[in-house]
Amino acid sequence: MAEKLAIDGGKPALDAGTIKPWPVLDERDKQAVLRVMDGEYLCGGEAPEAQALEREWAGYVGRKHCLATSSGTAALHMALAALNIGPGDEVIAPAYTFLASASCILHAGAIPVFADIDRRTYTIDPALIEEKISERTKAIIPVHLHGLPADMDRIMEIAKSHDLYVIEDACQAHGAEYRGKKVGRFGDLAAFSLNSSKNLACGEGGLLVTDDRDLYMRAGMLRMFGDEVDDETKLRVYNSSILGYMYRTQELPAALTRAQLRRLDEYNEIRIRHCNYLTEQLEGLPGLHTPYVPVECKSVYWMYILEFYPEEAGVTDLSPEQFRIGMEKALFAEGVQLGQWQTMPVPAQDLFQTKLGFSGSGYPWNFTQAGRDMVYRGEDYPNALDLCRRYTAVVGYHPPNGMEVAELYAQAFRKVFSDLDAVRRHWQDDLVAHYRGSLFRAK
Ligand SMILES: Cc1ncc(COP(=O)(O)O)c(C=O)c1O
Repeated sequence: MAEKLAIDGGKPALDAGTIKPWPVLDERDKQAVLRVMDGEYLCGGEAPEAQALEREWAGYVGRKHCLATSSGTAALHMALAALNIGPGDEVIAPAYTFLASASCILHAGAIPVFADIDRRTYTIDPALIEEKISERTKAIIPVHLHGLPADMDRIMEIAKSHDLYVIEDACQAHGAEYRGKKVGRFGDLAAFSLNSSKNLACGEGGLLVTDDRDLYMRAGMLRMFGDEVDDETKLRVYNSSILGYMYRTQELPAALTRAQLRRLDEYNEIRIRHCNYLTEQLEGLPGLHTPYVPVECKSVYWMYILEFYPEEAGVTDLSPEQFRIGMEKALFAEGVQLGQWQTMPVPAQDLFQTKLGFSGSGYPWNFTQAGRDMVYRGEDYPNALDLCRRYTAVVGYHPPNGMEVAELYAQAFRKVFSDLDAVRRHWQDDLVAHYRGSLFRAK
């Protein structure tokens, strides 16, 4: 007889408290932060930790220049603004990503145009980009999603043939590689997030990289009120020549990031080992699809994505969404940390339905020279839409958790798959599971 599931009152596969939180913060991080407390600077142009972080990250990615910022969102906005992308321009982004990959376009006063994702990798489908290009298109923002690089060869080819800029959104993919090269090395600029959920984490922060000195200088001004630093004296001029922002970082997060960076590769290898093991263990379960990683890509698994196909499990009375919800509840009760992250394509979000824009003015969509009238409909992105019905994002396998958690996760999946009736019975339960601060709702 099948073991009683935790959702039916059985013993959970994982005891409460088994999973330890990410990021790993230890003595090395404390020492880094104390170094700042004992030093002279908390922020500013001469602050040594931020400067060292910029050198180290540029070196790690293989880029000439890096600017540390207050967030990944700030880095993305700086990238667009440094390229002079603004009112009247269009920028192409994937329909499935985090909002900031598209809201940065609005922040620049430009219009986001969405392209659907590849159904297997979940990154922007290069085959769907060209039909989105108009005479107003200035750039493409490929997103290296869940830690997996986008199809950069084809994206760069399209960009080159249409004379478009490429800004890589690498906010989820520190250390991921495409054809042996780190992501962040392909586009004109690339942005990374240092938010505490990310593989390189400090709380909140970001990193912007480029090889182009002019873009670097301009982005540097944008980061600091549009102000310049005198080349000789290294002092601020206090004469803003362009409209800038306040997107600087601080010494405490910069020092913490540096300490974390020293262990990034080691932690990524642990994630990869855990996720490969999970894939090996789970791929035989009918109705469950494990991640697809193209041979040219190294994923660093910021999230581990699974999809549910009830018909393959012989479940014909539940829709993919109902089956997925039932599975999530049963697995969550077993102690697996999982749930939905994005629940709809980005263009289906209210922001794009109401098009209220800046302060409710309708700008930039109502900008008189904005060209075509953009209509955003979730159903225009069937791959993103279908993914949102079927996927769940698993976390909790990150360090300091070891292989034993991956093994317990595999056991929990096998257990739940052995009692599909429980999934049938429970999918409608009025249960709201907490997933990393965001909620996935039962219905
Ligand atoms: C794909 C993507 N782009 C951009 C961002 C924005 O980064 P931040 O939260 O550091 O502003 C995130 C953060 O989650 C992200 O996942």
